[in-house]
Amino acid sequence: MRDDSAMLGETVPLCNASDLVDGGDAVPFDVRYFGQTCRGFAVRFRGKAHAYLNRCTHVPMEMDYQPNKFFDITGNYLICATHGAIYSPETGEGRGGPCRGGLVKIALSEHDGVVHWHTGPHLKPIEF
Ligand code: FES
Repeated sequence: MRDDSAMLGETVPLCNASDLVDGGDAVPFDVRYFGQTCRGFAVRFRGKAHAYLNRCTHVPMEMDYQPNKFFDITGNYLICATHGAIYSPETGEGRGGPCRGGLVKIALSEHDGVVHWHTGPHLKPIEF
């Protein structure tokens, strides 16, 4: 998957860079995806921050049974707690279990100690 985060859409502050601990808990955030309010989550893996829509490809439901816990026991994959689909933390591609394709990736950038997510054609900030 291309990493063209710097060229996409507007940027929306998500969290402090230090909030994302390598292999640790995710930071959740809300987005509008095709007009629907959805949860996203950001994690850090091998030093780099990644974010995805919190929606399993098996059944379109949130993946974390324990809030913000997405890494499997090996620390190498993101896992859906419901039926155990696993995904690459770096690309969101399905790697095992009942996944059907990959997670929806949300582009991130990180500078001056802050992580931002990037809007896209179908991915917008929540309106207040
Ligand atoms: S809903 Fe995620 S594995 Fe079934």
